[in-house]
Amino acid sequence: MSAPKKLFIKTYGCQMNVYDSERMAEALGGKGYVETKAAEDADMILLNTCHIREKAAEKIYSELGRMKKLKKGNPDLKIGVTGCVAQAEGEEIMRRQPIVDLVVGPQSYHRLPEMETKVQAGEKALDTDFPEEDKFEKLKGRPKAKRGPSAFLTVQEGCDKFCAFCVVPYTRGAEVSRPADRILTEARELVERGVREITLLGQNVNAYHGASANGDLTLAQLIWELDKVDGLERIRFTTSHPNDMMDDLIEAHGTCDKLMPYLHLPVQSGSDKILKRMNRSHTAESYLRLVERIRAARPDILLSGDFIVGFPEETEADFQATLDLVEEVKYGTAYSFKYSTRPGTPAAERPLVDEDVASERLQRLQALLTRQQREVQESMVGREVGVLLEKPGRLPGQMVGKSDYLHSVHVGDCDKEVGDMVRVHIVASSTNSLAGELIR
Ligand code: SAH
Ligand code: SF4
Ligand code: F3S
Repeated sequence: MSAPKKLFIKTYGCQMNVYDSERMAEALGGKGYVETKAAEDADMILLNTCHIREKAAEKIYSELGRMKKLKKGNPDLKIGVTGCVAQAEGEEIMRRQPIVDLVVGPQSYHRLPEMETKVQAGEKALDTDFPEEDKFEKLKGRPKAKRGPSAFLTVQEGCDKFCAFCVVPYTRGAEVSRPADRILTEARELVERGVREITLLGQNVNAYHGASANGDLTLAQLIWELDKVDGLERIRFTTSHPNDMMDDLIEAHGTCDKLMPYLHLPVQSGSDKILKRMNRSHTAESYLRLVERIRAARPDILLSGDFIVGFPEETEADFQATLDLVEEVKYGTAYSFKYSTRPGTPAAERPLVDEDVASERLQRLQALLTRQQREVQESMVGREVGVLLEKPGRLPGQMVGKSDYLHSVHVGDCDKEVGDMVRVHIVASSTNSLAGELIR
């Protein structure tokens, strides 16, 4: 038998890309590929890309530029671009960078094995269709190898919200939910392979409405089905749109023990004028009332958010409204970005905020968010939390895991194993993690 071919995948962007990369590696495993961590050793390189901001997209072209050398050294090397840049730019990528052999958009990954055959025959392969089939059902070959205790599972893809700044509805297509039985089967398989925590993924995961034998299930109903899976200890989901936070999902946060007290609920801005121009279809006030209801169901829930500053025509007063909203919510963690113009989106037509003004606002927002994050983290000291152990720490006898609230926790003097759920008394907080002692 010939030596296995080596596959190197570099993943950019959101968790959905992480999940897709795993599935692509498994599908190409069926064609004799094993993964390598070194691009120099690879027979095939896939860049799984993100198009969300201008910098993210440009990064891909610089990376491809650097790869020219590798291709010179190994003319048999095949280079592919997958993900959202592939969808957005298609053939243009091959024109700009002729070393690229293969371009495939996120909804066509099930065609990857046949595309691989084509590139091995020396042809170029391009596919950016939005076919009707469930790509994950067709993307078989998930090996039964043991894996880490925490896994992503995509349940919904695409987006129908069309926020005025965002490329996702164009790169991922319309909202589609995967059928519940396939998700449950996949979840059981993951648990058999050692997974203890599953994070359900979707661009609008809380708009999930997947088919089941008993009619469509909501996300909360799907979570209750997963709650019955023996051996699965924790359930999370991301990302949620405020308008799809239904009553049964809010309630589940108070009643489902496996559903973790953490919620990523992007608001983007605290100004109603800007929210309207962003086409978010919620107001600052409706978001704050929603947060109140969620906290009434689960008082200790840790909230996370996304923010865009410097959206076209954002004034100082609009920005101040964002700071006010942040002060009121008190986020445990958050992601904030400077607005980036995306060609083809409605906001791209609007007048820009001065670059320096936007940068200065971003700094102020990040200072506030960092302070809140630190305060929330420090408030964990003295508390008892659940921790799922993920890997050995750097010190002897130390293990590292994630708390229920998704904080990294270093547990000293720990004789437990990766994949164990333990109770930990938090004793200290440092910049990006907590330290704790095992409760025996
Ligand atoms: N589906 C998710 C978001 C996906 S994109 C949701 O709706 O929550 C992740 C984040 O990137 C967004 O929440 C937004 O804050 C940011 N983002 C999206 N488009 C952007 C743009 N054009 N410029 C700057 N940030 C952007
Ligand atoms: Fe983009 Fe808005 Fe859809 Fe999120 S909800 S993916 S920000 S269009
Ligand atoms: Fe980026 Fe596509 Fe995800 S644009 S954020 S990789 S859906």
